[in-house]
Amino acid sequence: MTPTEFLAALLPARLIPGESGAAYAPANIALAKYWGKRDRALNLPVNGSLSISLGTLGTHTTIRAAANDRITLNGTDAAADSTLHRRTFAYIDLWRRGAAQPLHVETTNTIPTAAGLASSASGFAALARALARYWQLDLPEGDLSALARLGSGSAARSLWHGFVKWERGTRDDGRDSIAAPIASDWQELRIALVEIDSGAKKTASGDGMNHTTATSPLYAAWPATAQADLAAIEAAIHARDFSALGSVAEANALAMHATMLAARPALCYLQAQTLTTLHRLWQARAEGLEIYATIDAGPNVKILCHARDEAAVRALFPQALWVNPFQS
Ligand code: DP6
Repeated sequence: MTPTEFLAALLPARLIPGESGAAYAPANIALAKYWGKRDRALNLPVNGSLSISLGTLGTHTTIRAAANDRITLNGTDAAADSTLHRRTFAYIDLWRRGAAQPLHVETTNTIPTAAGLASSASGFAALARALARYWQLDLPEGDLSALARLGSGSAARSLWHGFVKWERGTRDDGRDSIAAPIASDWQELRIALVEIDSGAKKTASGDGMNHTTATSPLYAAWPATAQADLAAIEAAIHARDFSALGSVAEANALAMHATMLAARPALCYLQAQTLTTLHRLWQARAEGLEIYATIDAGPNVKILCHARDEAAVRALFPQALWVNPFQS
């Protein structure tokens, strides 16, 4: 099935615009990672994944009718030939299906560049929700997740706050490969974002996972490991077991990086500073501070810790940006 066919099955034949559509979506960090696509066009994952959303760090998007397609990011118009413009309107074209409805997409990221976080997850999640509101569509949340997924896989998880699980699904059309929030209010959980390098990465995550699945001899071990880690993390959330949550999340991230390092040629997002940070964290943990790390397709380190240890972690990583994911 193509994305066009998928959208045609989900949306009404005619889209009727309202005045405007606005939405906010938080960024998210996977604790059990999505790494590998079983369908590249529909962004269907090889394995399920589970994330924690980053509260007020995310994307606000408003859609209105316009004379020509236009996208404004943080107050500045993006050029028509920019990646942002092209990627956004290629996605919107899937919804419009040829209808002449030029739009102005106004989007603001509250994620500081220095956080070293990707904004494609929150960007496509906010865009999907805002488009649905603009066209006055009362879509089930699961359908909205599948629609966000077509923009970027991890966007499927960025529609909600807190912990979110994205089911792998088994259907070829991906209708069951959707995310949903996990009920939890874990007030003591803290995330510290340690920026190593906020520059654009050389290999986009999608390309990185395609290269890994195609060439890494270690990838064969990944799907089962990933599913088992996902189940263990979900159980840790229900049991409020921080040690289990942190240790499995850290091991899962490192296993994902191991599959990339074994790819041919190797794919290494880790930088010298990433490893220095990891070793400092492991040293502190050996000395009794219970902290864990996770790393996405980039060099930056995200630390998981318990609120009672915040001061100690601040002293260790003074440059970190702090997130309290369950603060309302
Ligand atoms: C390492 O969602 O950015 O962050 O589906 O190609 O847009 P595409 O990939 P993307 O990949 C995210 C990979 C990851 C792990 C995760 O967020 O689960």
